Amino acid sequence: MEKENIIRMLNKTDKAVMTSLVNGEMFSTEIETNKALERSAVINSARKLLSLGLIRIDNITSTGVRLTALGKQYLTEGLPEYRVFNFIKKHGAVTYKQIFSGLSMDKNELNAAVGSLKKSSFITVEKDRVTINPDKEKEIVRKNSMLSAVEGGQSIDPEEISDLIKRGIVEQIESIREKLSITALGKEITKDREFAEEYLDKLSADNIKNWEGLRFREYSRNPEILNSLSGRSNIKTKFISFIKDAMVSMGFSEMHSNYVESSFWNFDVMMFRQDHPDRDIQDTVYLTAGGGKIPEGLLQRVKKVYERGFRRSKYDESIGYRKEFDGAKSSSLIMRGHTTATTFRYIYEFISKNKDKPAKFFSVDKGFRNETMDSTHLLELYQIEGIVYGDNLSVADLIGYIKQFYKRIGIEKIRLKPTYNPYTEPSLEIQAFSPKLKRWLEVGNSGVFRPETLEPFGITKNIIAWGFGMERMLNLKLEMSDIRDLYGAYTDIDLLRDISSAKIFSEF
Ligand code: PHE
Repeated sequence: MEKENIIRMLNKTDKAVMTSLVNGEMFSTEIETNKALERSAVINSARKLLSLGLIRIDNITSTGVRLTALGKQYLTEGLPEYRVFNFIKKHGAVTYKQIFSGLSMDKNELNAAVGSLKKSSFITVEKDRVTINPDKEKEIVRKNSMLSAVEGGQSIDPEEISDLIKRGIVEQIESIREKLSITALGKEITKDREFAEEYLDKLSADNIKNWEGLRFREYSRNPEILNSLSGRSNIKTKFISFIKDAMVSMGFSEMHSNYVESSFWNFDVMMFRQDHPDRDIQDTVYLTAGGGKIPEGLLQRVKKVYERGFRRSKYDESIGYRKEFDGAKSSSLIMRGHTTATTFRYIYEFISKNKDKPAKFFSVDKGFRNETMDSTHLLELYQIEGIVYGDNLSVADLIGYIKQFYKRIGIEKIRLKPTYNPYTEPSLEIQAFSPKLKRWLEVGNSGVFRPETLEPFGITKNIIAWGFGMERMLNLKLEMSDIRDLYGAYTDIDLLRDISSAKIFSEF
């Protein structure tokens, strides 16, 4: 591309970023502060300049420090030892008693502060008199000022504040920063006369009317540049729509429901026992609010089956849990832990009202878990949920659907293992082999709904159902080893951009 054309594509921020780099490399954060720019503006600019070949970006990992909640508190109050030292200094010589009554501080904190001051001879105790050691004043002022230095983001050797780290006042964090440097072409461009020219980059009603004599920034029509600058849908979004297409082509209709759900639809309706470890299978995110609306008749029927079971015939009966069911707990709200909550809403709304009609539903939607994130666990995950209702369905049909689905996705190495769910019997866990992690991963769960869960709806036929984890599936497809690579700021943008990664879906 012509140099002149490149220059005309640069806006004010781009130019500011480039001029910042003329005298040497810089962190994007330094550019932000120097030029009073927003972080997102600098990052956007940097991406654009990178694709134009004007700058280079290196990600530098470094360990930094930051104040903990306690550290923040001390930042306003002063370190306990600093406060004690100042108190003594102010009063000349004091007794222990005066220190303890004069300072409103936590007693343990105060004890520890006095102890450490004494130990490192910041204060001297003679008989009953406590005095400061004036030689030490500088040192303690400096120590206290470390808090604002940390807060202000100054680079500090962790060695120097090891005491504050040990006491949980400061913590070490790992951060990744983008270091930008200018390329030869970039440098050349900054020297060009045209570079100093200002162009308008926003149209207004006024300058459209009086456009003569105004210089506007150019937009490139070069396909290569357009390609590198234009947006793409995220690979997850693509994958989800491929899955949805696949489900629809197999005759399934899509279900939707809300993220915030009542305990009733997430647990009770599925016969999860109340106050029982069954509920811990899902690390639930509880909300403090209550008030989920529940159909009263259904609630009563669930209670009845929960407590006493049912009797359809001599050989088709259940005794229930023989425990009291507390309907008052049912309306408390949570973030739904699984999309099986959606499934049961559809069983209620559609299947129970059209019992003669076979039905197939699916959803690809989020479930929420209060878990620790790691390479195979997320706090928010997409579940691919499916149910089939019809005559004479059995676990063989379930296995058939599962195998067909994974085959269609292109994951061949799967195996099924018996497992436990409060709401299905039998229950099958789906495992897939990850060549990257070299182990079997749980990728889904499934089963035939227990008669107890369907009795309140008056449904006596079998319903087969499953829930597959979308992210783990995509991880396997992309041969990634860490599920977090699909999310967040450090996702590999090239992977997401790479058209060839879309090719893996062409098998559909
Ligand atoms: N709800 C289950 C899960 O979150 C998946 C599942 C759905 C299991 C339907 C059985 C039947 O893991």
